[in-house]
Amino acid sequence: MVSYIETRDLVKVYQLGDVEVQALRGLSMKVVKGEIISIVGPSGSGKTTLLNIIGGLTYATAGKSWVAGEDISSSSPAQLGALRQTVVGHIFQTLNLIPTLTAYENVELPMLAIDSPKDERKKRVTDLLNQVGLGLRMNHKPDELSGGEKQRVAIAAALANDPPILICDEPTGDLDTDTGAKIVEFLISVNTDMGKTVLIVTHDPAIARQTDRIYRIMDGRILSVQRPSESEEAGAEMRIQMYKDRLAETAQELEDLQKAYNEQRITPGTFAERWHNTQQTKRFLEEELHRMGV
Ligand SMILES: Nc1ncnc2c1ncn2[C@@H]1O[C@H](COP(=O)(O)OP(=O)(O)O)[C@@H](O)[C@H]1O
Ligand SMILES: [Mg+2]
Repeated sequence: MVSYIETRDLVKVYQLGDVEVQALRGLSMKVVKGEIISIVGPSGSGKTTLLNIIGGLTYATAGKSWVAGEDISSSSPAQLGALRQTVVGHIFQTLNLIPTLTAYENVELPMLAIDSPKDERKKRVTDLLNQVGLGLRMNHKPDELSGGEKQRVAIAAALANDPPILICDEPTGDLDTDTGAKIVEFLISVNTDMGKTVLIVTHDPAIARQTDRIYRIMDGRILSVQRPSESEEAGAEMRIQMYKDRLAETAQELEDLQKAYNEQRITPGTFAERWHNTQQTKRFLEEELHRMGV
């Protein structure tokens, strides 16, 4: 039996000229219908890539994935288009609001794409904007809205066609703590009150703790899965050890990279890309270990 959302051994390789980036290296996860889960991990660990595959924006290089029970790894581009329109609401890290359109028009756009009737559109857009607390800002363009308000428009637009699944890429990334907390409160209500399955990529442990399960991702793989109700100590010992091991590896990797570059075995582009990624992972591990009191 396949889960509502499931990935098995996902691999994603990006080819940029002569630079090869392995964004996912065998990532497997399962999400039950009606769950709200968080995905945490360092920059460059593959979180956005994973959401883009689940959201039907790009194909994996290898591995399989199912969304709402459908095998999307063997879906046609047209089927993925339909998935994006009606099955998965996607809130991008960059929001993707159209600057020349008002809040109302931005939310209406996904409904126009599937030809929903005019009366239905008007009611739905108005209801959604009221629900996210933007009833009085419907005719403002994105530039005339605050960061938190823009985020609300993006959420309303993602919900326009009433998809059963909502995926959000760092929805509070650029927001101050209070504004971010309100956004998270709303996303949780999308799960509990509207019954949608919600995936949130976040850097914030306080947000992760409010979800049903926390997937930790590193180097394009799942490192651990934890319920917030489990005591911090339960998984902590194991995680500290894994972080320490991985930290030791990163030091070795940086040394190897430098050597490969000096001996001209890798291009400057590959060197820069891998160096940057490994540094990011190293910094993340140092910060996490520090946070855990090590
Ligand atoms: N379109 C792309 N082309 C080339 N490399 C990419 C592309 N998107 C992401 N990457 C690379 O893949 C890795 C994972 O990126 P991403 O999924 O954005 O991670 P995260 O969201 O966790 O920061 C990074 O090394 C990133 O530079
Ligand atoms: Mg990202």
